[in-house]
Formats: sequence, structure tokens, C-alpha cells
Amino acid sequence: MNNEFLEMVKPPEEVHGEKPSDSNSDDILSELPLVDPDCDPEHPRKVNFSDISSAAFNIKTGIQRTPCNRSSQLSQMFNMDLYFKKEYLQVTGSFKERGARYALSKLTKDEKQKGVIAASAGNHALALSYHGLLLNVPVTVVMPVFAPLMKITMCRSYGATVVLKGDNIQKAKEYAMRHGIEKGLKYVNGYDAPDILAGQGTIGLEILEQVTCCVPDVDAILVPVGGGGLIAGVAVAVKTLKPEVQIIGVEAETCPSLTEALKEKKPIPTKVKSSLADGLAVPTVGGNALATALGLIDKTLTVCEECIALSILRLIELEKAVVEGGGAVGLAAIISGKLLELQGKRVVSILTGGNIDTTVLGRTIERGLAVDGRLIKLEVVVSDRPGGNAGSVPFKNRKASPFLSPSSCQTRPMDNCSTIVIKIAACKEIPSHKNSLSVTSAKR
Ligand SMILES: Cc1ncc(COP(=O)(O)O)c(C=O)c1O
Repeated sequence: MNNEFLEMVKPPEEVHGEKPSDSNSDDILSELPLVDPDCDPEHPRKVNFSDISSAAFNIKTGIQRTPCNRSSQLSQMFNMDLYFKKEYLQVTGSFKERGARYALSKLTKDEKQKGVIAASAGNHALALSYHGLLLNVPVTVVMPVFAPLMKITMCRSYGATVVLKGDNIQKAKEYAMRHGIEKGLKYVNGYDAPDILAGQGTIGLEILEQVTCCVPDVDAILVPVGGGGLIAGVAVAVKTLKPEVQIIGVEAETCPSLTEALKEKKPIPTKVKSSLADGLAVPTVGGNALATALGLIDKTLTVCEECIALSILRLIELEKAVVEGGGAVGLAAIISGKLLELQGKRVVSILTGGNIDTTVLGRTIERGLAVDGRLIKLEVVVSDRPGGNAGSVPFKNRKASPFLSPSSCQTRPMDNCSTIVIKIAACKEIPSHKNSLSVTSAKR
């Protein structure tokens, strides 16, 4: 990357919760109708197989062809031939790079010079920033004010201008669209722009190439769903080549926007609650995504927070894979026991992203262990005199082995000064027979 470009994209003055330009421009711009010409729900555009083939050809360089490997332990645990398409191994940690790179490569010369703008608190922002840097396109990302510091820092490190605006993604989006109109920057919708859908669809082509070398072929592909761009692209690619492969959309229980939209055959605003799968929290699916996917999705289902936590834990322990909540919902669906019909079948779950905050990861592991019945927390009161706690430690002859990190074993003196309280967190080994039913019966 040349310095000139870095100079060019350096934020002139970064704005935290304030607009970056003069104070009247918001008022003037708020009069303008907010319609993204690429994503007009009144005139949805369908993506077809040739769009996805062009995208695949176009993004051959710059995008990782991620592995799609069989998991022997999880296949055995759930009685199916289970493969993982490992998109968390893209440079910025998610599949969003595919669509972002393709959308940037399709810009006209003038659009490339002026640059693009997007609203995203996460993976789309990272992907667009990184490929903007590689392709010499100035990128502005508008993030809600609560966006994780790590993601803000990473986008800036790729040379993007980061604007923090609004206390939710909808407000950030409105601001980004207005600011884009004002500055002549093309707005790139991360889940509904036709080029984004086409780019994401290339995962479907790769899965068929990578797993179809075996007989029988893939029976089902589990696709995490947020705004619907990924499932729309994958469904077109896969159903065109192999209509018998089932496409199953998995949503967080906290945001069932595709399930609702499929019932009504139109995008319906859905109430969103906070979730471990924050990347999937899109209240209304995209109009192009829905129009493209209609008739191509065999089933959608939702997963609860406990199943997502357990899925993240299983992926760390058994696959050595750090996957974010949104990326782990496919395995969560298997864990939930809602896909028992896939037993004995060949199933691919797309692990779409790995961008999980380290603090959230720590809490999620604990939560997963608790759901799994493996985390025991207890307080013991013992004498604070020499030899006073002999025989009191509750792990004598234990099956459980305590993990004695400072956060999980703390002491506190009692008021009488002669006794102390020991707080202990202990962890049991992973039960080898554990399957889906344990979670559903224990928690649901
Ligand atoms: C990790 C992850 N998985 C899946 C999705 C869903 O993609 P889409 O919005 O195209 O449905 C997202 C969306 O941002 C995501 O971040």
C-alpha cells in the first residue's frame, strides 16, 4: 500500500457520535428520500447463477479458498457425516470478504476514485476496509457508538475512515446513506447489494467442489442467516448445480427475521433482542436477498442462546476453532435436536466468522460449560488457621478437576477474621456420550 493512499484515506477528523461535516448538512439531507437504488424493496433484484460464476472468477485472487473438512469427533457425537466450511479463516475473520471484494471490483472508475461508504458494526466493515486497502478504494464505515473498540481499531488500521454515529445500526445506516449522497460515495449494503449476494454465493460453489469428491454427495448445508445475503447466494449456487441438496437457514431465536419474511413472502421488521450471535441481528431481511432465496430454502429454524454457547465451546474443544456466535449457529442447530432427520446424512455447516470479543469469549465458555453441566461453582467456609482447611477442600477424591485460575478460585476473609470463604469454579470432563437431547431436555 502506498503512503499517498494511506494519507488520502486517513480520517480528516474522526467523529465520535457527531457528524463529521458542518452542522446544517444533516437537516438539509434529512429532507432527501433514503432509497438505495441497488436495494429498493419495491423493485427487488434477483441474483442468478451467472452472477455467482462471474464473482467466483473475479475474486479468485484476494480471497482465501477456505478448507471444508470433516470433523470425526462431532460426526460421531451427532451420528452424521459433518463437515465444516471454515470461513473464519479469511484474513479479517469472516466470509464477508467475498461479497465486499466483488462489490469493490465492480465499481466504475469514478466510483473507485470517490470511494464507498457502509454502515456496519462488524464483519462487513472489516471486510470492506481491508479490500478497499488492497484495491485502492477509499472506504468510510459508519458504526454505532457502541461498536467494539477492537473492530474500530482494525478498520482504521486498514486505512478506513471510521465514523461513530447513532446508538443502533439503523441510525448508523441512515447517516451513512445521507453522508454518501452528500459526498458522492457509493453506499454498499452488506447483506442486500446484488454484488454482495453474488460474492457470498461463491461459498456454495466451493462447498460442492470440495465435498462432492465423495459419494454420496452433500445432503444438506446449514447456513447462518442475518440479512439473508449469504443464504440467498449459496442457495442459488447450490440449487442450480444440485437441486437435491437441502439448504437450511439457521437464525438466532432473538431475531427470526427470515422465518417471518418467508411466512409473509415479504421483508417484515422483527423485534431484536441481544444475542451471542450479534452478527445475525438484522431486524429486516433484504428485499433482493428474499426475492432471490424464495423457493430455494428447504427449512429455517431458530436456536437458543444456550445452544449457541455450547456450540462455541464444542468448536473450541473439539475443532480447535474460535468461532463467533453468528458463525456457530449451524452446529447449535444440530445440538438443539431440531435436525434429527439429518442423522446418517452428509451435512456441511458454514462457520461464517471468528470475530468474537475476548471478554465475550471468556463468558461464553463459562456459559457453555454450565449448560453442559460441567461447571460447578461453590463457596466453602474454612478456618484461616494453619492446617485449618485440611479436609475441607471439596475436591478430595474428586472426579472433577478444579481449574485454579485466579478468576475461578478466590478467597475472602469473613467478619470474624478466623475463617475465610473460598470461591471455587471447577470443571468436569466432557461427557463422551453427550448429544443433542441433553441440552433440549435440560434447558427447554
Ligand atoms: C458471522 C456471520 N455469519 C453470518 C452472517 C449472516 O450473513 P447475512 O447477513 O448475509 O445473512 C453474518 C452477517 O453479518 C455474520 O457476521
